[in-house]
Amino acid sequence: MTSIIDGKAIANKVSDEVREGSSRLVEKYGEDARPNMTLIVVGDDPISKKLVSMKAKDCETAGITPTVIALSQNTSEEKLLRLIDRLNRDDDVRAILCQLPVPEHISTKRILAAIAPEKDVDGFSARIDCDDYDIAACTPAAVMRMLKESGISVSGRHCVVVGRSNIVGKPMAIQLLLNDATVTVCHSKTKDVGDFTRMADVLIVAVGRPRLITGDMVKEGAVVIDVGMNYVDGKPVGDVDYESVAPKTSFITPVPGGVGPMTRAYLLKNCLRLAELYCRGKK
Ligand code: GUN
Repeated sequence: MTSIIDGKAIANKVSDEVREGSSRLVEKYGEDARPNMTLIVVGDDPISKKLVSMKAKDCETAGITPTVIALSQNTSEEKLLRLIDRLNRDDDVRAILCQLPVPEHISTKRILAAIAPEKDVDGFSARIDCDDYDIAACTPAAVMRMLKESGISVSGRHCVVVGRSNIVGKPMAIQLLLNDATVTVCHSKTKDVGDFTRMADVLIVAVGRPRLITGDMVKEGAVVIDVGMNYVDGKPVGDVDYESVAPKTSFITPVPGGVGPMTRAYLLKNCLRLAELYCRGKK
C-alpha cells in the first residue's frame, strides 16, 4: 500500500504555527517585532516571478510582512550587491531572499555570500552542524519534517540522495546524517545511479531532470521524496517518474503538492526564527 505524503496539508499546519509565533512576538514586543521578509527578483523569468509572488502571499497568510523588489534583467551585479548591503544594514529588515536563478552576468555565489547570515531566510549559510535551534536550509528542513509527520525515522536506515547542489543535496545529506541515517550521495558523475538508488530505504531526488528515476531503480517498499520541479509542455513534473515508481513505494511525495509547498512553508518558519533571534538580541 502506498501512502501519498500531502505536502500542502503539512505546509498549512506549518503556516498556522508561524502565524501563532508571529502573533506571540507582536504581543510580547509590539508591532515592530512582526517578522518581515524582503524578496528580490531579478529579470523577467515568469516562473521566478510567480514563485516570488506566491512566497509573498504565503507571508501574508502567516502574519509576516512581505516586500517585493523586482529588478530588471540588465541590473548589474554591483547594483544588486549595493541593494543587499543597504538591506543588511537596515535595522527594520529582518529577512532577505534573492530568488534564484539570477541572470548569467551576476555571480550567484557572490550574491548569496553578500546576504548577512542573520538575515539569510533561505538558510543557505546554515552551519554544518545546525540543529533545531539554528536556521537550516529550507528544503532539507522541509523534507525532514515531512518524514517526521509521516512517522518515518531515518535512524539506521540507508538514505540515498541524488543531487549534490549547495541548496538541497549537500545540506540534505547533512540533515540525514544528523538524524543517524547511513547516507549515500549520487551525482552527475556517478556511474550506474540505479545500483545505488535500488539500495535506498529512503530515496531523495533533487537533480532537476524530469522523470529521471523510474520504477526499475527503486526498491519495493522504499520511501521516495521528489524534490524536483520541472516543466514539461507547461506542466509541472518531478524528477521521479511517478507512474512507474509510486506502486513500488511505501510513501511517496507528489509533484506538485509535495516538497514545493513545504519548502515555502519552511521559509516562513525560518523568517519567524530570524525575527525571534533579533528580538532576543535587542530587547
Ligand atoms: N529558486 C528556486 N528555489 C529557490 C529557493 O529555495 N530559494 C531561492 N532564493 N531561490 C530559489
